[in-house]
Amino acid sequence: MNARVEKALNQQVVKESSSSQFYLAMASWSETKGLNGTAKFLYTHSDEERFHMLKLVKFINERGGKAIIPEVEKPPVEFENLEHVFELLLEHELDVTASINDLVDICLQEKDYSTHNFVQWYVSEQLEEEALARTILDKLKLIGGDKGGMYMFDRDLENSAIGASPANQAQGK
Ligand code: FEO
Repeated sequence: MNARVEKALNQQVVKESSSSQFYLAMASWSETKGLNGTAKFLYTHSDEERFHMLKLVKFINERGGKAIIPEVEKPPVEFENLEHVFELLLEHELDVTASINDLVDICLQEKDYSTHNFVQWYVSEQLEEEALARTILDKLKLIGGDKGGMYMFDRDLENSAIGASPANQAQGK
């Protein structure tokens, strides 16, 4: 496998791994605040990021490269509030998108069209994840500090987590 592409793919492994850890910390924090629906959504999101990482690891190895499993980095323990959590999540996703775009660029420069094809899945995934994060943030801004609104928000997120679980996605649900 092209060395430059392999290095960029391994850098993406680090990004997806840190996304998974970051969202796991957010899920755990939400759970301790009694936001069980939000916690479920974020636990599922963390699992999805691990799946994104695994997909890269397998691709690198199957193409004759060597996947490097990164160290586990410690994410924050505390967050100011739920809006802050989703602001950080969107910021993180934007960073991941930038990194995917760099990867696309490198594939084209190196004329590695099969990896370019593989990476397109991540391009679409990032569009969806950014849109979802923005929708959630808009909802939170509308709700403000309203407790009833927050209750409904938490319940809605729980339902969306069930549909988005990696197991359900694999079964095409
Ligand atoms: Fe896999 Fe949300 O980046």
